Amino acid sequence: MDLVDKVALITGAASGIGRASAHRFLAEGATVLACDIDEDGLASLAAEHEQERLHCVVCDVTLRTDAEASVDYAVTQCGGLDCLVNSAGITPRTLPPTADFEARWDAVMEVNAKGVFLMSHAALAVMRPAGRGSIVNLVSIMGIVAYPTSLPFSDGYTAYPHSKGAVVQMTKEMGVRFASEGVRINAIAPAFVYTPLTANVTGDPEVHAEMRRLHPMGRMGRAEEIAAVVAFLASEDASFVTASVWPVDGGYTAQ
Ligand SMILES: NC(=O)c1ccc[n+]([C@@H]2O[C@H](COP(=O)([O-])OP(=O)(O)OC[C@H]3O[C@@H](n4cnc5c(N)ncnc54)[C@H](O)[C@@H]3O)[C@@H](O)[C@H]2O)c1
Repeated sequence: MDLVDKVALITGAASGIGRASAHRFLAEGATVLACDIDEDGLASLAAEHEQERLHCVVCDVTLRTDAEASVDYAVTQCGGLDCLVNSAGITPRTLPPTADFEARWDAVMEVNAKGVFLMSHAALAVMRPAGRGSIVNLVSIMGIVAYPTSLPFSDGYTAYPHSKGAVVQMTKEMGVRFASEGVRINAIAPAFVYTPLTANVTGDPEVHAEMRRLHPMGRMGRAEEIAAVVAFLASEDASFVTASVWPVDGGYTAQ
């Protein structure tokens, strides 16, 4: 994959799919700027890779100042910005149960939708003048289809699918808008993947069995399987791919 000497800023890089992407990009020869609010997670990532091509910065994607400072760090300390991977994300399940429905909706939209917008806006300020760049957004199959009603956490009011649907449209709208300027923008829509994000529901054997059953492959995905497609879409190997949404879902959305 053509990622040698590319600089990739990855949000949510301390955990799950973002972390697996950081591993994959480093393995492909890229310089990685790992961004996350989880300072300990970033420290453990850095400890796994003791190499000059990995930089770590604490960044809250919901803050415009953090988004701009991270992009500035990439330009001044890493030598530029070729790829942005928007993997930072939350679900309402991980928020305090005491929060009321409006606070939960706002919190999820802030990270999952506004965070992608702010990071993309900051990155585009560098990519557009350069006439090149690639953005990969982690959305979800829940941005394409509704939550399955057979799962207990599908209460019909969760902001998660709303936030992912917003980024599906952001991907298409921004992808088309900036296609002629050499910036490619794509999204990956995974089905259920084993990461800390799903750990609190896969712990229930019945729920876990139902989650597996929903995939034609009969299993959930692994973070590395998503990271492989992230790396492809970010790389020049995907040079004619833009404004598209790629299900990486074991057949889930084809049913
Ligand atoms: N795991 C799945 O089943 C699954 C399925 C479809 C889509 N996704 C999406 O993939 C992305 C990665 O999910 P994951 O499973 O790796 O989750 P994860 O919980 O393992 O990792 C998410 C990371 O985002 C970070 N983060 C949260 N809020 C942040 C903020 N405000 N600023 C910066 N970083 C922040 C967390 O600290 C964490 O390190 C998310 O956008 C998620 O919605 C996950």
